[in-house]
Amino acid sequence: MSIEKFGVIGAGQMGNGIAQVAAASGMEVLMSDIKEEFCEKGIGNISRNLDRMVKKEKISEGDKTAILGRIRTTTSLEDMKGVDFVVEAAVEREDLKFKIFEDLDRICPPGVILSTNTSSIPIGRIAAQTSRSDKVIGMHFMNPVPVMKLVEVIKGIATSEETFQLTWDLCEKFGKTPAEANDYPGFIANRILMPMINEAVFCLYQSVGKAEDIDTVMKLGMNHPMGPLALADLIGLDTCLAIMETLYDGFKDSKYRPCPLLRKYVEAGWLGRKSGRGFYQYT
Ligand code: CAA
Repeated sequence: MSIEKFGVIGAGQMGNGIAQVAAASGMEVLMSDIKEEFCEKGIGNISRNLDRMVKKEKISEGDKTAILGRIRTTTSLEDMKGVDFVVEAAVEREDLKFKIFEDLDRICPPGVILSTNTSSIPIGRIAAQTSRSDKVIGMHFMNPVPVMKLVEVIKGIATSEETFQLTWDLCEKFGKTPAEANDYPGFIANRILMPMINEAVFCLYQSVGKAEDIDTVMKLGMNHPMGPLALADLIGLDTCLAIMETLYDGFKDSKYRPCPLLRKYVEAGWLGRKSGRGFYQYT
């Protein structure tokens, strides 16, 4: 099966990054969101990223125009009926994803693979909302999508070998390196990353260190490209909290309890870079 038309649900930070890499690989991309302004914001972000690449002479002005020309947007999920492969990158909320998959199952022809960029919701649970659980798979990109090489490819219990292989090949076509994971809460990436971030928040909560010092220890002591608190701000504190809740609920193990300070920040609307304030302030 050849994949030429690629559908992306969600034009937010993950969705627009995925749309960019798919279009850069030569595919026709349809990116959807619930409001026109979200689509415009997504396209604006892609355009800025491409400008940066033009300035660094990684691509030409002509390449930029061609990539943008391959991305269309829509506010109607029904338009996904014409695509060959879908990746869903909507907000990390189970009820929302369930509804999207139920709708996509009705809208898309039966052979189309429905993948999800979920960072922690079980693939099997999402697949159960459809009548094609063999064609549902996790395709977990990392933030910032155009820069990060990894895509975690997650097999649900019913995912077929053919679906897995097609998804794997697609990651390579996008210039990414896939890694295979099975369907347990948090998969591999967030099972390891989020408890580290959560522990860094506990260090702040218990005044073991200031935010800057916690990040300096991990940056200079462990050679991480950025400290865990700065990374949490990049990912979004609401997303970090949602993933910790999924780990805690999924394993029923107290070692995954979210730090109360993380919850307090999210309740205050301090969500990290996207809201202008998290563990650090952004202008
Ligand atoms: N979008 C596109 N490109 C970006 C970017 C963005 N948001 N941010 C940085 N870049 C590009 C820059 O243009 C630059 O490109 P060149 O190498 O071509 O010059 C390159 O990335 C490096 O950027 P900078 O020199 O400005 O900054 P840096 O060296 O500090 O790198 C970083 C920035 C790539 C974000 C780096 O700090 C990093 O790798 N941080 C860790 C990121 C990480 O761990 N991501 C995974 C998060 S977990 C996740 O996403 C999964 C989940 O489910 C929560």
